[in-house]
Amino acid sequence: MAKSQPRYACQECGAVYPKWAGRCEACGAWNSLAEEFPRAGPPKSLGGSGKGGHALDFVGLTGESQGSRRHLTGIAEFDRVCGGGLVPGSAILVGGDPGIGKSTLLLQAAAAVAAGGAAAAYITGEEAIDQIRLRAQRLGVAGTPVRLAVATSVRDIAASLDIANPPQLAVIDSIQTIYLDTLDSAPGTVSQVRGAAQELIGLAKRRGFVLVLVGHVTKEGMIAGPRVLEHMVDTVLYFEGERGHQFRILRAVKNRFGATDEIGVFEMSDRGLVEVPNPSAMFLAERSEADEAGNGVAGAAVFAGIEGTRPVLVEIQALVAPSMLGTPRRAVVGWDATRLAMIVAVLDARCGLSVGANDIYLNVAGGLRIGEPAADLAVAAALVSAMVENPVPAETVVFGEIGLSGRVRPVSHSDARLKEAAKLGFGEAWVPARQGARRGRTGDGIATVPIAHLSELVDRLAPADRRRQMRRIAAAP
Ligand code: TYD
Ligand code: MG
Repeated sequence: MAKSQPRYACQECGAVYPKWAGRCEACGAWNSLAEEFPRAGPPKSLGGSGKGGHALDFVGLTGESQGSRRHLTGIAEFDRVCGGGLVPGSAILVGGDPGIGKSTLLLQAAAAVAAGGAAAAYITGEEAIDQIRLRAQRLGVAGTPVRLAVATSVRDIAASLDIANPPQLAVIDSIQTIYLDTLDSAPGTVSQVRGAAQELIGLAKRRGFVLVLVGHVTKEGMIAGPRVLEHMVDTVLYFEGERGHQFRILRAVKNRFGATDEIGVFEMSDRGLVEVPNPSAMFLAERSEADEAGNGVAGAAVFAGIEGTRPVLVEIQALVAPSMLGTPRRAVVGWDATRLAMIVAVLDARCGLSVGANDIYLNVAGGLRIGEPAADLAVAAALVSAMVENPVPAETVVFGEIGLSGRVRPVSHSDARLKEAAKLGFGEAWVPARQGARRGRTGDGIATVPIAHLSELVDRLAPADRRRQMRRIAAAP
């Protein structure tokens, strides 16, 4: 066999180059190319029997299918994010930063499945048996019949799972530690991650078990990011959370069997991950600490958001301070920095409020990441409130999208947002004008205040005399 030439694959996006370079031309990542040795000749697969190829057996769109019955793990937040349980024969990728709690969550899920009477296997390439056993004890699941094994070779794993009666759930922790011995590159490189996953996914489809792959995401890109796997699996879940926080959010970013953008909320405790069935109450619990006198705090607004199919209330906090720098600082946690820049520009250009020259810090409380443009109005409310040091009324929620003209546009699910706000004791909502067409009470007892243009929000929070005073301060030498 001819000795194969090395090639260089980007560990971020998978692009392949004949020569090493400092930067991947395809995705722009720095220092992401790693040496790999492709096999001479066509790649060999471990399983399957496609020697000469078979004629396809075409079938109709309806018919007997056994894939529709889902396994419920019994961890409601996990099941919901998966679209209502685990689909047999499907592959799920659970990605997240190291140490965020992936192994904990999946050991709990495997234990719950095993406790429910189905067979579950947990295969680890990262930890020793004793470590997992200790964790199981801590989680209080040591008594469940989970089948535990340490393995790193796909050949060994396939030999154990490619059987007539495989477990209904197999967790592989993590895909970066698994290798395929038909490939020459090291475990964790893109070709290994891709090759091993392909083999395991094929096996899961053939044998009809649920395959869960754990993948670490590293910002440095030195270990192959599971991004290359995203198109191979049926469901991609990301487990995220802020380091200092107890909250963990499991987010579906792709799901062939359910809604995306669905989130499950957990709290990391000393006995593992505990479900949080009512995330709004939890996110707002952070807020009441900051609020002592029973009044709202300047620079904060409660956003009535929708995550997947569920309404979630969360506080948006802003700090606006005079800048000492030529280019003012912008620090954003949990929201899109470009969108912040847009709102600042609209406040400047359409409302005559010069926020832009200041340093701006924006934070979404509780470690949640918001992607909805519906948060625009709440962000603007927090900014204006911080700027003029006038709190948004404490019992008020805010939502609405802002256009470049400053007009406030209607958003979806306004009823669900208002209902959730009412449930949590809010009495007022600032909403896009067309949605709260008239000022008044909704059936849930929330008073809606229609806002047609951003300048109306500014007028509410910053009466004219206050703004004149501010302009004088700004004009002073
Ligand atoms: P782990 O599941 O090992 O993370 P990952 O697999 O994503 O790398 O979780 C590690 C963290 O979770 C670790 O810092 C300890 C913490 N933890 C708890 O707080 N409580 C627990 O009961 C367990 C098992 C872990
Ligand atoms: Mg782990």
